[in-house]
Amino acid sequence: MTRFVPSGPLRGWLRPPSDKSISHRAALIAAMGEGETEITAYLDAADTRSTLAAVAALGAGVETAPQVSWTAVIPGPTGLSSALQVAPSLAVRIRGVGLRGALPAEIDVGNAGTLLRLLPGWLAGQVGKEWTLDGDDSIRRRPVDRIAIPLRQMGADLRAREDRLPPLEVRGAPLRGITYEMPIASAQVKSCLLFAGLQAEGETRVVEPLPSRDHTERMLAAAGATVERDGNTVVLRPAEQLEWNSIQVPADISSAAFFVVAASLVDGSDVALEGIGVNPTRTGVLAILERMGAGIELDGEREEGGEPTARLRIRSAPLRGTEVGGAEIPLAIDELPLVALAACFAEGTTTIRDAEELRRKESDRIETVTAALRALGGVVRPTEDGMVIEGTGGLRGGTINSHGDHRIAMLGAVAGLASKQGVEVVGMDAAAVSYPGFEADLASLVAH
Ligand code: S3P
Repeated sequence: MTRFVPSGPLRGWLRPPSDKSISHRAALIAAMGEGETEITAYLDAADTRSTLAAVAALGAGVETAPQVSWTAVIPGPTGLSSALQVAPSLAVRIRGVGLRGALPAEIDVGNAGTLLRLLPGWLAGQVGKEWTLDGDDSIRRRPVDRIAIPLRQMGADLRAREDRLPPLEVRGAPLRGITYEMPIASAQVKSCLLFAGLQAEGETRVVEPLPSRDHTERMLAAAGATVERDGNTVVLRPAEQLEWNSIQVPADISSAAFFVVAASLVDGSDVALEGIGVNPTRTGVLAILERMGAGIELDGEREEGGEPTARLRIRSAPLRGTEVGGAEIPLAIDELPLVALAACFAEGTTTIRDAEELRRKESDRIETVTAALRALGGVVRPTEDGMVIEGTGGLRGGTINSHGDHRIAMLGAVAGLASKQGVEVVGMDAAAVSYPGFEADLASLVAH
């Protein structure tokens, strides 16, 4: 059990860990490539370590070196200390096996849903070979029918437990391009089908009901694939080979969001977050918080690894309730638990709808967020596809259980700092799935 006590203002300048979605993709696309790819600032966390182990098992050469955490004393954002603290990451060199060169293997995806859903797309078209994908208890509850259904339409040979859960067996088979209208706005499903399309005969067209994160499209184009957007459809042509030299991974807005909310809620806070990926398909959380009244400024915008990045500056501010739904949901899907936390501190009601997908994340996040916030004194009503939160201006505190879900553990820590009596988190170690140094980084913003 880890206790997070009410804190004074948060202050400081931090580069949170690198983007998890981009790191997974970088390792996979590098492994599909010919020759060597250098990935700098690769996320050093349990989930993305699973992906490195997976591509190594498939025959790729993987060398890692720590890019140690450092503190630079350089002119900082006005009014803030000039010590920039940078979370540790990995420098990774991957020697690819080529699009059709993966070795047969049993793959342990650990807790990584993104690896579970993306990797079969690459494997499905490699004729004459077999693979099994399995993972931890949480992974065994994550549906794979969402990828199995369209992959089978392309000709893939897949077997899953109860036809929809891991372990998932993949037998390589010849694939043909299809047009697939996704029933859900899922970047994982889209990415899986684009990977499969690389080896298919003819074009693959993925129609999105709403835009979802587009890192795969950007990265495949950078590696030489022909991938284009036609309205709400992503069109990919098969590729002979991929070639890529290097990529630098930006900081993860989903990790930054914990500090954005913490600084918004704790009076007197003023925090700067450096090098944050602000791809418009990921910034829904900023738009929602700004609508709630949060004091967020963006500056220093530039491009890193084919993705827009910026510095975020967050000052605490009183919040008001809002309505969240529709197209905003895929743009903020992993940050909706934090929106619900912020809503407890706001004035008025916040309604989150159209977010049934929350039930299929590392935990059923409608249930786990509701339980956590209620345990701390929050007034929350779960619905089929979201939550209704009555803002009461604050949270009392208490004990919550992460249920092994990294984002719930870190939500508990942020709640503790902003609460009246503090929060105990059972299962704080889950944070290491995406952010191993989270507690230390949070503490560094409190101790100044
Ligand atoms: C991810 C996409 C999202 C997100 C997940 C990571 C990705 O899932 O929730 O944490 O890297 O593609 P869905 O695409 O299933 O919505």
